[in-house]
Amino acid sequence: MQKILNVALENRSYPITIGENLLSQFEHFKLHSGQRVLIATNDTIAPLYLQHLIDMFEAHGIKTDFVIVPDGEQYKTMETWNQILTALLANNHTRNSILIALGGGVIGDVAGFAASAYQRGIKFIQVPTTLLSQVDSSVGGKTAINHPLGKNMIGAFYQPQAVVIDINCLKTLPPRELSAGLAEVIKYGIIMDSEFFNWLETHIDDLLNLDVDALSYCIYHCCKLKAQVVAADETEQDMRAILNLGHTYGHAIEAELGYGNWLHGEAVSVGMLMAAQTAKLLGKLTDKDIQRIKNLLIKAKLPVKRPEQMTIESYIPHMLRDKKVLSGQIRLVLPTKIGAVEVIDVVDKQLILEAISSI
Ligand code: NAD
Ligand code: GLY
Repeated sequence: MQKILNVALENRSYPITIGENLLSQFEHFKLHSGQRVLIATNDTIAPLYLQHLIDMFEAHGIKTDFVIVPDGEQYKTMETWNQILTALLANNHTRNSILIALGGGVIGDVAGFAASAYQRGIKFIQVPTTLLSQVDSSVGGKTAINHPLGKNMIGAFYQPQAVVIDINCLKTLPPRELSAGLAEVIKYGIIMDSEFFNWLETHIDDLLNLDVDALSYCIYHCCKLKAQVVAADETEQDMRAILNLGHTYGHAIEAELGYGNWLHGEAVSVGMLMAAQTAKLLGKLTDKDIQRIKNLLIKAKLPVKRPEQMTIESYIPHMLRDKKVLSGQIRLVLPTKIGAVEVIDVVDKQLILEAISSI
């Protein structure tokens, strides 16, 4: 069974199709015979899914090139971005060409950014293959690369023309990566949907066991929530910031420890607990709600303790470079109960340090 959602952004609207075996179903890609495609993927995903897509496109009269970049968050760089642009140029791709991002959030973010820049912008399609990218990064048009001084600091808002989510891809995903994706899933429950959080409390094992009905419901629901937020605030002028729960602390962990050492979802897991603790110190969140969040993260096999090798003080310079900072003040997304958050300028650095040290 397939489910289709629409991201409503006027002339930049696009469908998200969710189902099984979609990589074998040409119609979801919205391509036409005679068009040209370049698939960007990495050296882990290529042996699994690349040839299959090439064969399907070529069978429908689409000339298909590809570029294979190295796998890993540490390669979400200007060099990889340039490698994709070089492949487009070397194969004489034009403004009518379509770039396809086949992979997780790293490939989606860097290829999307390359699509935004090539000849001032060509169409691109997201084919997310991790749980994290299926519930979050493939939807909404945030594209970026990392800089040694900060995560996702260079990029563009650039929407895809379609998102094709094949749940079967998750069968080859390592368990640690599946859990990392669950961090962003749990995030949606905390920020905006207490009923979904309740559902997760009883179905997290089904998701870990790759139960198709549970995955299908979960991915559809997360994409629906994300599409609502993006349609309301595409370029994060206000409301979209809620999707950043835990990310201000999490990005600090990723950048300080070296990209790729802690997975993004793992850093977000600990970051969400730090945000919850900060909210508690400000008198905004109960111990009971913090415990529920922690229990669910543990059930999802996610870390709930901060990395020991990182000093408390080392978080602050990273947090001050966060994109939410407007006038030198750390801005945080803080839960006020399960299903609701506030975005708050936290002036008291001591309080932030206290929250971090307690996790
Ligand atoms: P990832 O892209 O690094 O993928 C995780 C690992 O799984 C990689 O080794 C990858 O090669 C492998 N893999 C992917 N699909 C596979 C499959 N089906 N079978 C086997 N292996 C597979 O990581 P991710 O968790 O998907 O994404 C994290 C990135 O997403 C971060 O850079 C983060 O900043 C970004 N992100 C972006 C947004 C956004 O809105 N643009 C939102 C959230 C996260
Ligand atoms: N993952 C954060 C956002 O898309 O805004």
